Amino acid sequence: MTLLEVLKRATGYLDAHGSSSPRLDAEVLLAHILGIRRLDLYLQFDRPLDESQLAPYRELTARRSRGEPVAYLTGHREFMALDFAVTPAVLVPNPDTEVLVQRAVEWGRARGGALRFADVGTGSGCIAVAVAHYLPEATVDATDVSPAALLIAAGNAERHGVGDRVRFLAGDLAEPLTGRYDALLANLPYVADGAQLPAEVTAQPAIALYGGATLVNRLLEGAPNLLAPGGIALLEIDPAIVADLRVEGFAGSRVHRDLGGLERVLEAWT
Ligand SMILES: C[S@@+](CC[C@H](N)C(=O)[O-])C[C@H]1O[C@@H](n2cnc3c(N)ncnc32)[C@H](O)[C@@H]1O
Repeated sequence: MTLLEVLKRATGYLDAHGSSSPRLDAEVLLAHILGIRRLDLYLQFDRPLDESQLAPYRELTARRSRGEPVAYLTGHREFMALDFAVTPAVLVPNPDTEVLVQRAVEWGRARGGALRFADVGTGSGCIAVAVAHYLPEATVDATDVSPAALLIAAGNAERHGVGDRVRFLAGDLAEPLTGRYDALLANLPYVADGAQLPAEVTAQPAIALYGGATLVNRLLEGAPNLLAPGGIALLEIDPAIVADLRVEGFAGSRVHRDLGGLERVLEAWT
């Protein structure tokens, strides 16, 4: 079979099994198996594929059809134009979170200087590493309760050459942090218990998903005391929890929307 025939067949199979992006998934997985860039598939439509390529491809498309996230199957995901290693120990970096990072970088560039950031619940380290990458003078302290996640995050920091400016600390929320920070960032679990979620979401660690407003409010409560004067907190939120957030002890706050127009990031300043 040619590459194009294989792609069409896999796309139909994934479509029939509920993927919301069957062609894209089929292409990403095939490019991964062949060790080429996705766009290069388009230059090789007539290339014949043999069983040594088809067998692992069938295996990956079958796993995808059962709801495993594409990023767990390929082992990486792009975020803020950087490539992050991911495993089932961490949440797959989500494009929605780029809203938070873009605001943090915009704020950091406007302030200038060697700013101190904290990233609470760092997971793959995508927020901490992207901030360190785009703000070359910044340092970041990143926390997580999951030692397995911190290992992945530390690898990502090394991979992007920021390992000397990002520290990874194990512990509950802000408990491992010391001193005052210019900016406190977090994408904590905020899905309400009992929410109906698609298989590719529930394939991710429960500790990275469920929390409702509770964890975010616990962090918000101590946040003003963690921040230096003129500092900000940027917390990713779900629109469903906005009304339950307790933003007290700050000089002001506002909410940023994502590209879909949903309330996505709470910004509060001291
Ligand atoms: C929604 S994931 C976000 C991961 C990453 N920051 C991102 O944006 O992709 C939340 C992370 O918070 C961590 N977490 C959950 N409860 C925590 C707690 N009490 N203290 C610190 N981290 C926690 C989870 O292990 C998970 O890595």
